[in-house]
Amino acid sequence: MIPFFDISSENSKYLDFFSSELKKFIAEGDYILGNHVEKFESEFAEFCGTSYCLGTSNGLDSLRLIFEAYKKIGLLKIGDEVLVPANTFIASILAVVQSGLVPVFVEPKINSFNMSYDDAKDKCNLKTKACLIVHMYGQLADTDLFKSLSEENDLILIEDSAQAHGASKNKKKAGSFGDASAFSFYPTKNIGALGDAGAITSNNTELINCIESLRNYGSQSKYNYSYLGFNMRLDSLQALFLSKKLKDYPKNILSRQRIASFYCNNVKNEKIKLPEHPNNMSHVFHLFVVKVENRNHFIDYLEKNGVGSHIHYPIPPHKQKSFLKYNHLNLPLTEDNHNKVVSIPLYPSLNDLQLKKIVDVLNCY
Ligand SMILES: Cc1ncc(COP(=O)(O)O)c(C=O)c1O
Repeated sequence: MIPFFDISSENSKYLDFFSSELKKFIAEGDYILGNHVEKFESEFAEFCGTSYCLGTSNGLDSLRLIFEAYKKIGLLKIGDEVLVPANTFIASILAVVQSGLVPVFVEPKINSFNMSYDDAKDKCNLKTKACLIVHMYGQLADTDLFKSLSEENDLILIEDSAQAHGASKNKKKAGSFGDASAFSFYPTKNIGALGDAGAITSNNTELINCIESLRNYGSQSKYNYSYLGFNMRLDSLQALFLSKKLKDYPKNILSRQRIASFYCNNVKNEKIKLPEHPNNMSHVFHLFVVKVENRNHFIDYLEKNGVGSHIHYPIPPHKQKSFLKYNHLNLPLTEDNHNKVVSIPLYPSLNDLQLKKIVDVLNCY
Protein backbone atom coordinates (compact mmCIF):
# COMPACT_ATOMS: atom_id res chain seq x y z
CA MET A 1 0.00 0.00 0.00
CA ILE A 2 1.35 3.45 -0.85
CA PRO A 3 0.31 5.53 2.16
CA PHE A 4 -1.45 8.83 1.59
CA PHE A 5 1.29 10.44 3.68
CA ASP A 6 4.33 8.87 5.31
CA ILE A 7 5.08 11.10 8.24
CA SER A 8 7.70 8.89 9.83
CA SER A 9 9.78 8.67 6.65
CA GLU A 10 9.56 12.47 6.31
CA ASN A 11 10.89 12.93 9.85
CA SER A 12 13.19 9.95 10.41
CA LYS A 13 16.00 11.69 8.50
CA TYR A 14 16.15 14.21 11.36
CA LEU A 15 16.54 11.58 14.08
CA ASP A 16 20.31 11.94 14.60
CA PHE A 17 20.16 15.73 14.55
CA PHE A 18 17.26 15.81 16.93
CA SER A 19 18.73 13.28 19.40
CA SER A 20 21.97 15.21 19.77
CA GLU A 21 20.24 18.61 19.94
CA LEU A 22 17.79 17.28 22.52
CA LYS A 23 20.64 16.53 24.92
CA LYS A 24 21.90 20.11 24.63
CA PHE A 25 18.38 21.46 24.88
CA ILE A 26 17.72 19.65 28.15
CA ALA A 27 21.04 20.78 29.59
CA GLU A 28 20.56 24.45 28.63
CA GLY A 29 17.07 24.75 30.14
CA ASP A 30 15.95 27.43 27.63
CA TYR A 31 12.47 25.91 27.32
CA ILE A 32 10.00 28.81 26.88
CA LEU A 33 10.47 31.47 24.16
CA GLY A 34 14.21 32.34 24.38
CA ASN A 35 16.94 31.71 21.83
CA HIS A 36 15.48 28.86 19.80
CA VAL A 37 12.21 30.70 19.20
CA GLU A 38 13.97 33.98 18.34
CA LYS A 39 16.31 32.21 15.95
CA PHE A 40 13.46 30.50 14.12
CA GLU A 41 11.46 33.74 14.01
CA SER A 42 14.26 35.64 12.33
CA GLU A 43 14.92 32.79 9.88
CA PHE A 44 11.25 32.46 8.96
CA ALA A 45 10.83 36.25 8.55
CA GLU A 46 13.79 36.22 6.19
CA PHE A 47 12.37 33.24 4.30
CA CYS A 48 9.01 35.01 3.84
CA GLY A 49 10.54 38.41 3.12
CA THR A 50 8.84 40.22 6.01
CA SER A 51 10.20 42.50 8.72
CA TYR A 52 8.77 40.37 11.52
CA CYS A 53 7.77 36.86 12.46
CA LEU A 54 6.38 35.66 15.77
CA GLY A 55 6.14 32.00 16.68
CA THR A 56 2.79 30.83 18.01
CA SER A 57 1.12 27.71 19.34
CA ASN A 58 -0.65 26.74 16.06
CA GLY A 59 -2.33 28.09 12.92
CA LEU A 60 -5.74 28.74 14.46
CA ASP A 61 -4.15 30.69 17.30
CA SER A 62 -2.12 32.69 14.77
CA LEU A 63 -5.32 33.83 13.08
CA ARG A 64 -6.97 34.48 16.45
CA LEU A 65 -4.02 36.60 17.60
CA ILE A 66 -4.09 38.66 14.40
CA PHE A 67 -7.81 39.44 14.75
CA GLU A 68 -7.54 40.10 18.50
CA ALA A 69 -4.61 42.45 17.96
CA TYR A 70 -6.47 44.39 15.27
CA LYS A 71 -9.29 44.88 17.77
CA LYS A 72 -6.86 46.02 20.47
CA ILE A 73 -5.21 48.59 18.19
CA GLY A 74 -8.65 49.85 17.22
CA LEU A 75 -8.79 48.87 13.56
CA LEU A 76 -11.45 46.16 13.96
CA LYS A 77 -14.40 45.92 16.32
CA ILE A 78 -16.93 43.27 17.27
CA GLY A 79 -19.55 42.87 14.53
CA ASP A 80 -17.31 43.96 11.66
CA GLU A 81 -17.67 41.84 8.55
CA VAL A 82 -14.77 39.81 7.17
CA LEU A 83 -14.75 38.35 3.64
CA VAL A 84 -13.67 34.71 3.90
CA PRO A 85 -13.52 31.88 1.38
CA ALA A 86 -16.32 29.36 1.97
CA ASN A 87 -14.03 26.73 0.46
CA THR A 88 -11.54 26.40 3.30
CA PHE A 89 -10.61 24.43 6.39
CA ILE A 90 -12.83 25.15 9.39
CA ALA A 91 -10.06 27.01 11.30
CA SER A 92 -10.16 30.03 8.94
CA ILE A 93 -13.84 30.60 9.78
CA LEU A 94 -13.51 29.68 13.47
CA ALA A 95 -10.92 32.40 13.97
CA VAL A 96 -13.24 35.05 12.53
CA VAL A 97 -16.25 33.95 14.58
CA GLN A 98 -14.31 33.41 17.83
CA SER A 99 -12.99 36.97 17.49
CA GLY A 100 -16.56 38.32 17.47
CA LEU A 101 -16.39 39.20 13.78
CA VAL A 102 -18.91 38.23 11.13
CA PRO A 103 -17.78 35.90 8.33
CA VAL A 104 -19.13 36.66 4.87
CA PHE A 105 -18.76 33.45 2.88
CA VAL A 106 -17.30 33.95 -0.59
CA GLU A 107 -17.48 31.31 -3.32
CA PRO A 108 -14.36 29.98 -5.07
CA LYS A 109 -13.60 30.78 -8.70
CA ILE A 110 -14.98 28.28 -11.21
CA ASN A 111 -12.52 25.39 -11.67
CA SER A 112 -10.49 26.54 -8.72
CA PHE A 113 -10.21 25.97 -4.99
CA ASN A 114 -9.33 29.61 -4.28
CA MET A 115 -11.62 32.53 -3.47
CA SER A 116 -13.38 34.42 -6.27
CA TYR A 117 -12.50 38.10 -6.51
CA ASP A 118 -15.79 38.85 -8.31
CA ASP A 119 -17.92 37.26 -5.58
CA ALA A 120 -15.83 38.97 -2.88
CA LYS A 121 -16.31 42.32 -4.59
CA ASP A 122 -20.09 41.77 -4.83
CA LYS A 123 -20.28 40.93 -1.12
CA CYS A 124 -18.13 43.86 0.03
CA ASN A 125 -20.17 46.65 1.69
CA LEU A 126 -19.77 49.43 4.24
CA LYS A 127 -19.66 46.93 7.12
CA THR A 128 -16.78 44.97 5.55
CA LYS A 129 -13.53 45.77 7.33
CA ALA A 130 -11.21 42.90 6.48
CA CYS A 131 -10.56 40.24 3.87
CA LEU A 132 -9.03 36.87 4.77
CA ILE A 133 -7.51 35.12 1.77
CA VAL A 134 -6.55 31.44 2.05
CA HIS A 135 -3.86 30.00 -0.23
CA MET A 136 -5.70 26.71 -0.58
CA TYR A 137 -3.72 23.47 -0.91
CA GLY A 138 -0.52 25.49 -1.45
CA GLN A 139 -1.65 27.71 -4.34
CA LEU A 140 -1.55 31.47 -3.96
CA ALA A 141 -4.93 33.24 -4.02
CA ASP A 142 -5.26 36.15 -6.48
CA THR A 143 -3.07 38.38 -4.33
CA ASP A 144 -2.97 41.38 -6.71
CA LEU A 145 -6.74 41.49 -7.08
CA PHE A 146 -7.38 41.15 -3.35
CA LYS A 147 -4.76 43.78 -2.59
CA SER A 148 -6.54 46.27 -4.83
CA LEU A 149 -9.96 45.30 -3.44
CA SER A 150 -8.56 45.95 0.06
CA GLU A 151 -6.96 49.26 -0.89
CA GLU A 152 -10.10 50.51 -2.67
CA ASN A 153 -12.36 49.62 0.26
CA ASP A 154 -9.99 50.31 3.14
CA LEU A 155 -9.94 46.67 4.25
CA ILE A 156 -7.29 44.91 6.30
CA LEU A 157 -5.87 42.11 4.15
CA ILE A 158 -4.97 38.97 6.07
CA GLU A 159 -3.47 35.81 4.59
CA ASP A 160 -4.11 32.32 5.87
CA SER A 161 -0.88 30.73 4.65
CA ALA A 162 -1.26 27.56 6.72
CA GLN A 163 -0.99 25.43 3.58
CA ALA A 164 1.33 27.57 1.49
CA HIS A 165 4.78 28.08 3.04
CA GLY A 166 7.01 29.48 0.32
CA ALA A 167 4.35 29.74 -2.42
CA SER A 168 5.61 32.65 -4.49
CA LYS A 169 4.82 35.03 -7.28
CA ASN A 170 7.63 37.05 -8.88
CA LYS A 171 9.83 36.01 -5.95
CA LYS A 172 7.37 37.44 -3.40
CA LYS A 173 6.27 34.80 -0.95
CA ALA A 174 3.08 33.83 0.88
CA GLY A 175 3.01 35.75 4.13
CA SER A 176 4.30 38.96 2.57
CA PHE A 177 1.28 40.01 0.48
CA GLY A 178 -1.16 41.07 3.18
CA ASP A 179 -1.04 43.21 6.31
CA ALA A 180 -0.48 40.07 8.37
CA SER A 181 -0.34 36.36 7.71
CA ALA A 182 -0.92 33.18 9.70
CA PHE A 183 1.04 29.95 9.29
CA SER A 184 0.59 26.46 10.70
CA PHE A 185 3.35 23.91 11.25
CA TYR A 186 0.92 21.09 12.04
CA PRO A 187 2.93 17.86 11.52
CA THR A 188 1.51 17.08 8.06
CA LYS A 189 2.02 20.61 6.72
CA ASN A 190 4.79 21.34 4.18
CA ILE A 191 7.01 22.41 7.08
CA GLY A 192 5.74 20.17 9.86
CA ALA A 193 6.67 20.26 13.54
CA LEU A 194 6.59 17.29 15.91
CA GLY A 195 3.35 18.58 17.37
CA ASP A 196 1.36 21.81 17.19
CA ALA A 197 3.14 25.00 16.13
CA GLY A 198 2.45 28.16 14.13
CA ALA A 199 3.69 31.63 13.20
CA ILE A 200 2.59 35.11 12.19
CA THR A 201 4.40 37.35 9.72
CA SER A 202 3.88 41.08 9.16
CA ASN A 203 5.66 44.35 8.46
CA ASN A 204 3.48 46.28 10.91
CA THR A 205 5.44 47.16 14.08
CA GLU A 206 2.43 48.26 16.14
CA LEU A 207 0.50 45.09 15.30
CA ILE A 208 3.46 42.81 15.99
CA ASN A 209 4.16 44.46 19.37
CA CYS A 210 0.55 43.91 20.33
CA ILE A 211 0.59 40.25 19.19
CA GLU A 212 3.85 39.63 21.03
CA SER A 213 2.19 40.79 24.19
CA LEU A 214 -1.10 38.97 23.57
CA ARG A 215 0.58 35.60 22.94
CA ASN A 216 2.25 35.83 26.37
CA TYR A 217 -0.67 36.59 28.77
CA GLY A 218 -0.84 40.21 27.56
CA SER A 219 2.48 41.10 29.16
CA GLN A 220 4.72 43.84 27.83
CA SER A 221 7.39 43.35 30.43
CA LYS A 222 7.66 40.64 33.05
CA TYR A 223 4.59 40.63 35.37
CA ASN A 224 3.14 43.78 33.75
CA TYR A 225 0.01 43.04 31.78
CA SER A 226 -1.50 45.56 29.39
CA TYR A 227 -4.06 43.23 27.80
CA LEU A 228 -6.19 40.24 28.71
CA GLY A 229 -3.87 37.95 26.82
CA PHE A 230 -3.42 34.27 26.01
CA ASN A 231 -0.78 31.61 26.26
CA MET A 232 -0.22 31.06 22.54
CA ARG A 233 3.57 30.81 22.36
CA LEU A 234 5.63 28.68 20.00
CA ASP A 235 7.18 25.81 21.92
CA SER A 236 10.99 26.14 22.02
CA LEU A 237 11.63 22.50 21.23
CA GLN A 238 9.44 22.79 18.13
CA ALA A 239 11.32 25.97 17.13
CA LEU A 240 14.60 24.05 17.28
CA PHE A 241 13.21 21.35 15.00
CA LEU A 242 11.56 23.86 12.64
CA SER A 243 14.84 25.77 12.13
CA LYS A 244 16.43 22.58 10.87
CA LYS A 245 13.48 21.73 8.64
CA LEU A 246 13.33 25.22 7.15
CA LYS A 247 16.87 24.78 5.78
CA ASP A 248 15.77 21.75 3.74
CA TYR A 249 12.47 23.21 2.67
CA PRO A 250 13.46 24.88 -0.66
CA LYS A 251 14.59 21.46 -1.87
CA ASN A 252 11.30 19.94 -0.70
CA ILE A 253 9.30 22.53 -2.64
CA LEU A 254 11.08 21.45 -5.82
CA SER A 255 10.33 17.78 -5.09
CA ARG A 256 6.68 18.58 -4.53
CA GLN A 257 6.50 20.57 -7.78
CA ARG A 258 8.27 17.80 -9.68
CA ILE A 259 5.77 15.19 -8.44
CA ALA A 260 2.84 17.46 -9.30
CA SER A 261 4.19 17.98 -12.83
CA PHE A 262 4.60 14.23 -13.20
CA TYR A 263 0.94 13.71 -12.30
CA CYS A 264 -0.21 16.54 -14.57
CA ASN A 265 1.77 15.24 -17.53
CA ASN A 266 0.93 11.58 -17.11
CA VAL A 267 -2.53 11.19 -15.63
CA LYS A 268 -4.87 10.99 -18.60
CA ASN A 269 -8.32 9.94 -17.55
CA GLU A 270 -11.37 12.05 -18.26
CA LYS A 271 -13.08 10.75 -15.10
CA ILE A 272 -10.39 12.44 -13.01
CA LYS A 273 -10.24 16.23 -13.08
CA LEU A 274 -6.74 17.46 -12.32
CA PRO A 275 -6.13 20.71 -10.41
CA GLU A 276 -5.67 23.81 -12.56
CA HIS A 277 -2.59 25.86 -11.83
CA PRO A 278 -1.91 28.30 -14.63
CA ASN A 279 1.00 29.92 -12.82
CA ASN A 280 2.53 26.59 -11.89
CA MET A 281 5.38 27.79 -9.75
CA SER A 282 3.24 29.84 -7.40
CA HIS A 283 1.99 26.49 -6.11
CA VAL A 284 3.88 24.54 -3.44
CA PHE A 285 1.51 21.55 -3.65
CA HIS A 286 0.78 21.00 0.00
CA LEU A 287 -1.92 18.73 -1.42
CA PHE A 288 -2.64 17.35 -4.88
CA VAL A 289 -6.42 17.43 -5.09
CA VAL A 290 -8.42 15.92 -7.94
CA LYS A 291 -12.18 15.98 -8.49
CA VAL A 292 -14.28 12.93 -9.35
CA GLU A 293 -18.02 12.31 -9.70
CA ASN A 294 -18.55 9.17 -7.67
CA ARG A 295 -16.09 9.76 -4.87
CA ASN A 296 -16.74 6.71 -2.69
CA HIS A 297 -16.42 4.39 -5.66
CA PHE A 298 -13.11 6.05 -6.65
CA ILE A 299 -11.70 5.86 -3.13
CA ASP A 300 -12.65 2.17 -2.87
CA TYR A 301 -10.91 1.54 -6.18
CA LEU A 302 -7.74 3.33 -5.01
CA GLU A 303 -7.77 1.39 -1.76
CA LYS A 304 -8.21 -1.97 -3.53
CA ASN A 305 -5.29 -1.07 -5.80
CA GLY A 306 -2.92 -0.05 -3.03
CA VAL A 307 -3.08 3.75 -3.21
CA GLY A 308 -3.92 5.74 -0.09
CA SER A 309 -6.06 8.89 -0.35
CA HIS A 310 -7.78 11.45 1.84
CA ILE A 311 -10.59 14.01 1.59
CA HIS A 312 -9.76 17.66 2.26
CA TYR A 313 -12.54 18.33 3.24
CA PRO A 314 -15.77 16.33 3.13
CA ILE A 315 -18.18 18.93 4.59
CA PRO A 316 -17.81 22.71 4.05
CA PRO A 317 -17.67 24.92 7.16
CA HIS A 318 -21.07 26.54 6.50
CA LYS A 319 -22.74 23.08 6.56
CA GLN A 320 -21.20 22.03 9.89
CA LYS A 321 -23.34 21.63 13.03
CA SER A 322 -21.09 24.12 14.82
CA PHE A 323 -22.15 26.79 12.31
CA LEU A 324 -25.89 26.10 12.47
CA LYS A 325 -26.68 29.71 11.74
CA TYR A 326 -24.98 29.48 8.35
CA ASN A 327 -26.36 26.04 7.35
CA HIS A 328 -29.04 27.64 5.16
CA LEU A 329 -26.49 29.35 2.89
CA ASN A 330 -26.44 28.22 -0.70
CA LEU A 331 -22.87 28.08 -1.98
CA PRO A 332 -22.98 25.64 -4.90
CA LEU A 333 -19.37 25.95 -6.07
CA THR A 334 -18.04 25.36 -2.55
CA GLU A 335 -20.40 22.42 -2.06
CA ASP A 336 -19.44 20.92 -5.40
CA ASN A 337 -15.75 21.03 -4.41
CA HIS A 338 -16.42 19.44 -1.04
CA ASN A 339 -18.54 16.68 -2.64
CA LYS A 340 -15.97 15.72 -5.25
CA VAL A 341 -12.44 16.35 -3.93
CA VAL A 342 -9.97 13.56 -3.29
CA SER A 343 -6.31 14.14 -2.32
CA ILE A 344 -3.78 11.67 -3.71
CA PRO A 345 -0.29 11.05 -2.27
CA LEU A 346 2.22 13.89 -2.72
CA TYR A 347 5.26 14.19 -0.44
CA PRO A 348 9.01 14.41 -1.07
CA SER A 349 9.85 10.86 0.03
CA LEU A 350 7.62 9.24 -2.66
CA ASN A 351 9.91 7.36 -5.04
CA ASP A 352 9.69 7.01 -8.83
CA LEU A 353 8.35 3.47 -8.65
CA GLN A 354 5.54 4.55 -6.34
CA LEU A 355 4.72 7.52 -8.56
CA LYS A 356 4.54 5.34 -11.63
CA LYS A 357 2.25 2.92 -9.84
CA ILE A 358 -0.06 5.73 -8.73
CA VAL A 359 -0.30 7.06 -12.29
CA ASP A 360 -1.01 3.57 -13.67
CA VAL A 361 -3.76 3.02 -11.11
CA LEU A 362 -5.32 6.40 -11.92
CA ASN A 363 -5.15 5.83 -15.66
CA CYS A 364 -6.82 2.40 -15.38
CA TYR A 365 -9.79 3.74 -13.39
C1 LIG B 1 -6.17 26.70 5.77
C2 LIG B 1 -5.87 26.39 7.21
N1 LIG B 1 -6.03 27.36 8.13
C3 LIG B 1 -5.76 27.16 9.43
C4 LIG B 1 -5.32 25.94 9.88
C5 LIG B 1 -5.11 25.74 11.34
O1 LIG B 1 -3.82 25.35 11.68
P1 LIG B 1 -3.57 24.50 13.01
O2 LIG B 1 -4.01 23.10 12.73
O3 LIG B 1 -2.10 24.60 13.21
O4 LIG B 1 -4.35 25.15 14.09
C6 LIG B 1 -5.11 24.92 8.96
C7 LIG B 1 -4.56 23.62 9.38
O5 LIG B 1 -4.91 22.63 9.64
C8 LIG B 1 -5.41 25.12 7.59
O6 LIG B 1 -5.27 24.15 6.69
